[in-house]
Amino acid sequence: MFKGSHISKDILDKMSKLIIGRKKELEMIVRAIQKNLPLIIEGPVGTGKTEMAKALAESLERPFIRVDGDDSLTSIKLKGWYDPPLVLEKGFSRDTFISGPLTEAMEKGGLFFYNEVNRAPSETINAVLTALDEKLITIPQLGEINAKDGFLSIFTYNPEDTIATNPLPKAFYDRCIWIHVSHQGLEEMMEIVNLRTSSTDELIVKLSCEIVQATINHPELEMSSTVRGAIHLVELMDEGEMIEELTLIERAKAVHSRKIRCKTTSSKSESEIIEEIVSKILSRYEDDRIIRKKE
Ligand SMILES: Nc1ncnc2c1ncn2[C@@H]1O[C@H](COP(=O)(O)OP(=O)(O)OP(=O)(O)O)[C@@H](O)[C@H]1O
Ligand SMILES: [Mg+2]
Repeated sequence: MFKGSHISKDILDKMSKLIIGRKKELEMIVRAIQKNLPLIIEGPVGTGKTEMAKALAESLERPFIRVDGDDSLTSIKLKGWYDPPLVLEKGFSRDTFISGPLTEAMEKGGLFFYNEVNRAPSETINAVLTALDEKLITIPQLGEINAKDGFLSIFTYNPEDTIATNPLPKAFYDRCIWIHVSHQGLEEMMEIVNLRTSSTDELIVKLSCEIVQATINHPELEMSSTVRGAIHLVELMDEGEMIEELTLIERAKAVHSRKIRCKTTSSKSESEIIEEIVSKILSRYEDDRIIRKKE
């Protein structure tokens, strides 16, 4: 697939060592960055968006400049500002201008990683647009700053996140390659949990991932749990411990109750749904480690 392009194959291999699965998505990322196209990774909470961007940064070995979107991230903070005492002394010049993260990434030819881009004010997004396609920004008094070769932008965005967020303008999408990620299946989720927890207790890892999988596309839930939930549950369990149904339900509730959300049409609470899921999963197992609750 990457005939004659050793660098790309190299980056893909490095990323594949850091990210479980996501073969197609990683290939798409590498194809886009080869052409210096800005990328937006979009998906629900806990689907590995940030991890993929970090893996790209690690694999590229370029300067990596990260910002996290919030409503105080103005375009001035992003581009840079003049230092008032220095300006009084020397006037407006490159020496008195303090680069913000976007300008720094452009000047260094680095990777500009903007996490949770929809949490930033719209005016900040608008300020980024020229950097994406024309690879330049305009600074008052200084004029245009052109990006050095190697400058790349990658954004993450959770479209289900609606608190303290702003819709992204069409002009932004128009400049980006869009990569959608959704929750991974059982096998890959188990590999992720193994990687993140170093647990060797396959039964606990499997049960934890099955619980999360059961929340995905559950008819009574409008929001499912995530791989983080599986990681958390494994962390709350001791390796090799007996699995008491009531204890597992209690810990699963502590982990998942606020990660999931019931549809308004459901008559059950989040806790009830978790209890149901855990009991149903355990009922499928014939294992001496499992101690069932008394009816
Ligand atoms: N494919 C994967 N390979 C390895 N680790 C993964 C993968 N997907 C998720 N993870 C791990 O799962 C956890 C959640 O991933 P991450 O923080 O990247 O999700 P996110 O999509 O950025 O979530 P949020 O929307 O909450 O910011 C992290 O511990 C991450 O390391
Ligand atoms: Mg994230």
